Amino acid sequence: MCSIVHFDINGCHYKLPVVYGTFYEKAINISKLRENTGLITFDPGLKNTGIAKSSISFIDGEKGELLYRGYPIEQIINKCSFMETSYLILNGELPNTAQLKSFSEKIKKFNHINQEIYQILDKIPDNYHPMGILSSLTYILTAFTNCQQEEDMYLHLLAKLPILAALTYRKKVGLPPSYADHNLDYTSNLLKMFFSIPNKSYQQNPIITDALDKLLILHADHEQNCSTTTVRLLGSAHSGLFSSISAGISALWGRLHGGANQAVIEMLETILNSGGNIKKWVEKAKNKKDPFRLMGFGHRIYKNFDPRAEIAKEVAENLIKKLEIFDPILELAKTLEQKALQDSYFVEKKLYPNIDFYSGIIYQAIGIPKDMFTVMFALGRLPGWMAHWKEIKFNRDPIGRPRQIYIGYKKRNII
Ligand code: SDX
Repeated sequence: MCSIVHFDINGCHYKLPVVYGTFYEKAINISKLRENTGLITFDPGLKNTGIAKSSISFIDGEKGELLYRGYPIEQIINKCSFMETSYLILNGELPNTAQLKSFSEKIKKFNHINQEIYQILDKIPDNYHPMGILSSLTYILTAFTNCQQEEDMYLHLLAKLPILAALTYRKKVGLPPSYADHNLDYTSNLLKMFFSIPNKSYQQNPIITDALDKLLILHADHEQNCSTTTVRLLGSAHSGLFSSISAGISALWGRLHGGANQAVIEMLETILNSGGNIKKWVEKAKNKKDPFRLMGFGHRIYKNFDPRAEIAKEVAENLIKKLEIFDPILELAKTLEQKALQDSYFVEKKLYPNIDFYSGIIYQAIGIPKDMFTVMFALGRLPGWMAHWKEIKFNRDPIGRPRQIYIGYKKRNII
């Protein structure tokens, strides 16, 4: 394996070291590039730029593989709960029975929020998007949360974010707040806080709990995606955990990122309501002059199937079958996927369904409203965001401060 790259610029010869990852992925270390050559690199969207060394998750985009701390997602989804997965992502190893019990018990201990948060929520307009509410309330949590030790910060957020999400939902549908039931596991408790009705005993549905637990696992971490890199950037400035997560929630809100799951269902409903002419919409997505894109298709890293989409598709089919509901949106999604993957445009550009193509169908079947889908994505991604924030602090990475190519005015004087 070569450990140096050589190149010539304007007749001068330069050498730069090569960095190798666990799976021998290679990078040119350009940390001394400007110092040695006066040049910087230019890479809009950071498509070719590694911004950190990380050991949390690994994606092989060509093979369509995803590992969490070395374990393939296909094994985790069948052998672990979201609680075990959160522990693994945060701590690097799967918990033993005692560690899992202590982890879960501590989260239950922190499973409450201050009365003032309820009052703040009451003041937020009903039509404000749930992602804006979640980001705002996560930010203000800092003012009401005293952590005796750093480890507790992560557990406070794992405990409190579901409460904020459930309160946001209940505000939308006009229900009073519901409180945690410590006899329930994490995901059952999350569903209870969402859907319990006052004066009626809450009936758990293990089919729904299992589907949601799997969806939370599928979202738990995904290398340097836009929102995770946002959290890392704030962590590099030594911003607090809660404010860094609040910023990550705001980044995830973007339609091209976590907001795609809501956009997928809206797209499928539009296609269905306009007569279901899939060929017309696939042609629109291919037309450069048309801003329409096939939401839920394509990915910056996966140039093969997104393994999470494969699993989410199976979870969606099982859930719909077990709940004995007919969902025309799921049928349309499967037909659209087939048609797109038979089209040379999508095949040549390696545009496959990503996780957002099927996750919305599951959320909808569970009874989550469309504008809350990305909130559910945030609940799943929380352990990953926190692990990256923790990692950048532990690695003592320098503050993130990229350079630019200036194309503005030359120096001029005010007349
Ligand atoms: C998530 O990074 C992550 O890991 C994100 C995520 C995570 O877990 O955190 O996986 C979650 O965000 C998944 C992605 C959700 N977004 C969408 O589904 C929105 C629709 N997808 C596209 O906007 C797009 O595919 C992106 C944003 C996902 C990726 O964009 P890239 O890598 O910047 O690719 P690109 O926009 O440069 O597209 C390359 C080509 C272009 O055509 P050309 O200019 O080369 O002719 O493919 C075309 C694009 O026009 N293209 C599409 C398309 N996606 C890309 N054409 C039609 N429909 C699409 N969906």
